[in-house]
This record gives sequence, C-alpha cells and structure tokens, in this order.
Amino acid sequence: MEALHAGQNWRRIRAGMVEMKGIILAGGTGSRLRPLTWAVCKQLLPVHDKPMIYYPLSCLMLADIREVLVISTPHDLPLIRRLLGDGAQWGLSIAYASQPSPGGIAEALVLGEAFLDGASCALVLGDNLLYGEGLGEMLRSAGREVRGAHVFGYPVANPSRYGVLAFNEQGAVSDVVEKPASPPSTYAVPGLYFYDASAPQRASALRPSPRGELEITDLNRSYLSDGLLDVTRLGRGIAWLDMGTPRALSDAASFVSSLESRTGLKVGCPEEIAFRQGWISGEQLMAAAERHAGSDYGAYLGALLGEAP
Ligand code: TTP
Repeated sequence: MEALHAGQNWRRIRAGMVEMKGIILAGGTGSRLRPLTWAVCKQLLPVHDKPMIYYPLSCLMLADIREVLVISTPHDLPLIRRLLGDGAQWGLSIAYASQPSPGGIAEALVLGEAFLDGASCALVLGDNLLYGEGLGEMLRSAGREVRGAHVFGYPVANPSRYGVLAFNEQGAVSDVVEKPASPPSTYAVPGLYFYDASAPQRASALRPSPRGELEITDLNRSYLSDGLLDVTRLGRGIAWLDMGTPRALSDAASFVSSLESRTGLKVGCPEEIAFRQGWISGEQLMAAAERHAGSDYGAYLGALLGEAP
C-alpha cells in the first residue's frame, strides 16, 4: 500500500474512508495450561479440528476486517507466522508484532499504534471463541458505529474471573470492575472490544496495575468516564467461551465437535468465511483444499466449491 502523508490520512479518517483494523492478542503466559503450554503457546493448541487462533481470526473476519495485526511473544511469533503467513490465502493482510513480556491486554493498543495509524480497531483475545446466529451482523454493526468504545456483556456462572459490568437502576453501565471478589453482576466482558482511534493514546496513559499489567478494564473505564462506552448485552443465542484452562479447552473442543458433527458445517473456518465474503476465488479455495488434502478439513473446503459463494 502506498505510504500516506499524515495530513492525507487524517482527511481519509474524517471522510470515513479508513477501514477498521483488527488486532489478535496471542501472547501471555498460559500458566493455567501448563505443561500443555511449555513448548508452544495456547493459541496454537488444537481445539477439535483446528488451531485455537482460527476462532478469534474468524471472528474478526465476520466483522468484515481484512487488515490484522497478530501480537505474540518473541518465542511464539515465528510459529504463528508459519501457520497464518501473510493472510493472502484468506484475502487478508496479516502483520506481526512482538510483546517481549506479558505487560497486559491493553498493551496491545500501545504495541499496535503504528499498525493502526489512526484507524479504529477491534481487539480480540487469541483464546476467545464467539459463535452464534446473527453474530456476524452484530459485529459488523458494532464496528460501523463505533463512537468511543463498544464492548459486550455476557452472563457467566463465574464472573470473578473476568472484567465485570456494574449497572445502575436504569440498567445503564455504571462501572467495569476487574476480577471482583464480589461481582456487581453476572455480566462478564468477553475478549472482543471495538475502539476508536484514541485507544493507543488512552492505553499509553494508563498506569500498570498492582499485578504489573496495563489492564483492559482500565482502558474501558477511561471511555466510560468520558461517556463513550457502549455496551451490548449478549443473549443466550450467542456462545462465548474462553479456552484458558484445561476444562475450558476441552469444553470448547466438545462444543465445536458437537456442532460440526450435527450440522456438517464448520465453526471458525477462515477459508469458508473468505470464500463466502467473496475475498478469495474458487481457485484459491481449491488450492487451500489441496494444501489440506487427506484431512476432513480439506474435504470440507473441496465440497464448498460446489456451492455458490
Ligand atoms: P490470560 O488468559 O488472562 O493470561 P495468560 O494467557 O497469560 O494465561 P494464564 O493466566 O493461564 O497465565 O490472557 C488472555 C489473552 O490475552 C490470551 O490470549 C493471552 C493474551 N495476553 C497477551 O498476549 N499478553 C498479555 O500481556 C496478557 C496478560 C494476555
């Protein structure tokens, strides 16, 4: 892409011509999954029939995002790059950045500042899976209308593990609290966040928390205190799973396996999304099917060719 002059870029942003970009945060320690994560990061572990990172990547693609930055540890980045490449096989452009130590989820916005170059973004955690009827349209509209920040709320049985929403009497969000011992509601904030162009600047201004991390909850609170945090509550029709513990990982694999064997449709298949969105041609889909020949995944891609995109 031709380098843009700063002034030119600003004019493009104001004219709404700058596309939203995506960031997948795929580093961290993965300590809860040891020894599985001793040699390889969790985002490359299998979740039924595909690597974990395919699910958050698919989520960004459903939000119509084609320019993606993947952030991981210096050790894992080459492995992730080997898997995802430059993204051309899915009609995407994928760039990479290293996070030398786990400085927190909000650090993704600081590390991603040059990549974003004034664009708004969707940040997704590399160990999160979102799936359900109407999800694509909901994500596309959240991305189109981002005015400040847009996050989601999802009822969970164990909110204390997450950022949790507090609501006032009118049902509006009054606070977001990180890992509260006494949760103010059961609504946790899933690891998919939409931010306007001010996010890198806001994230850079955050102070590390007592555990030494730039907390995503603090970034969300910065938008909330400016009256710029939109929240959509997700209902029962949407599944949100994180895959950070052995139990959660095996639950996610069972979920994907049950759905796929019942419907014959794949969950989180980037080739399928790219083909249906018209981002790759039939020839490219065929090449992907050949690359994965011998697997059920490859056969699935081959069968898609018979369908209209
Ligand atoms: P977590 O699951 O909160 O942290 P973790 O991956 O270090 O795992 P554990 O608690 O078991 O040690 O992270 C959520 C996601 O964000 C996950 O995909 C890893 C990623 N992450 C980073 O890439 N960098 C970071 O600094 C942090 C805190 C998380």
